[in-house]
Amino acid sequence: MIHTLTLNPALDKTVVIQQFQIDTVNRIDSLRLDPGGKGINVSKVIQKMGGTSRATALLGGSTGQLIRKMLEQQGIDVDCIEIDGQTRTNLKIIDPIQKTNTDINEPGSSLSEEQASAVFSHFVKQLRTDDIIVLAGSVPAGVEPDIYARYIEAGKLIGAKVFLDADGDLFARGVQAQPYLLKPNRDELSRFVGHKLESIEEVKAASCMLLAGGIRKIVVSLGGQGALYVTKEVCLYAPALSVPVGSTVGAGDSVVAALALAEERDLPCEEALRLAVATSAANVMCSGTQAADLDQVKTLLPQVRCYPV
Ligand SMILES: Nc1ncnc2c1ncn2[C@@H]1O[C@H](COP(=O)(O)OP(=O)(O)OP(=O)(O)O)[C@@H](O)[C@H]1O
Ligand SMILES: [Mg+2]
Repeated sequence: MIHTLTLNPALDKTVVIQQFQIDTVNRIDSLRLDPGGKGINVSKVIQKMGGTSRATALLGGSTGQLIRKMLEQQGIDVDCIEIDGQTRTNLKIIDPIQKTNTDINEPGSSLSEEQASAVFSHFVKQLRTDDIIVLAGSVPAGVEPDIYARYIEAGKLIGAKVFLDADGDLFARGVQAQPYLLKPNRDELSRFVGHKLESIEEVKAASCMLLAGGIRKIVVSLGGQGALYVTKEVCLYAPALSVPVGSTVGAGDSVVAALALAEERDLPCEEALRLAVATSAANVMCSGTQAADLDQVKTLLPQVRCYPV
């Protein structure tokens, strides 16, 4: 079973405004609401791809209830952990004329150490051997940066495969606990190693260094350049597909979703990488954090090239 965990979810409000300007009144052309937060995005993509997952999320207030309802309507199994306060709303302003994307994100509610421990016990109790656990995104204020490391250690003890997609200290502490799979983008990996990784060779070298510690698989997403899949045995590169861009928000989450499905289906690395690149290209074509249809992924899949580097 695939579990996703979203400790800091959000309602994503995507608005389209022509010629968006600050310090004046702007008029919205269109608006859409999507349940968001990285783990939730992963569950949405898995659902559209014909898979199933259990989405555990901390949800609060009327916004939290709306997110829960929207996910359930999409057929997603939601494990809602109710928290005090209101789940945040993140505003995304798309200006198709000036070709800009402006994000205005609320900080979200904070979580006490005691509440964080209760969530941890509740989540870990549900895990079984061979489960796939996706830990993704930011965490509420008040939560220690070793939180994902604790989940990774608990998951490993049970025999589950833990995927980590995080940034900064959450990433660095998580790496120490050696998850099964790591999905940084180029900037996240660069921040971790302390210098900008420019070439594919540099990204590969940094990934190999991490694998030496015991992580099994590292997939580095390279935005419009594609993705690199590195294990101790192979290093594969797949260029991104050239597609019309609707929104790149959540592109990395769709990579994680495809990798989780590939793991569950025991696909070889090459097929996993090709699926990840096709899935993310299909999702880039959609607006907001709306998940793409499986048919679109199937259409794109034969176009993905993948080769050893
Ligand atoms: N402009 C693009 N055209 C085609 N594919 C793209 C484009 N941008 C991203 N992708 C695909 O999406 C994947 C993930 O993108 P990216 O590296 O930007 O993820 P990310 O930074 O983790 O995103 P996020 O955290 O917002 O979900 C890439 O590996 C690539 O396959
Ligand atoms: Mg990302």
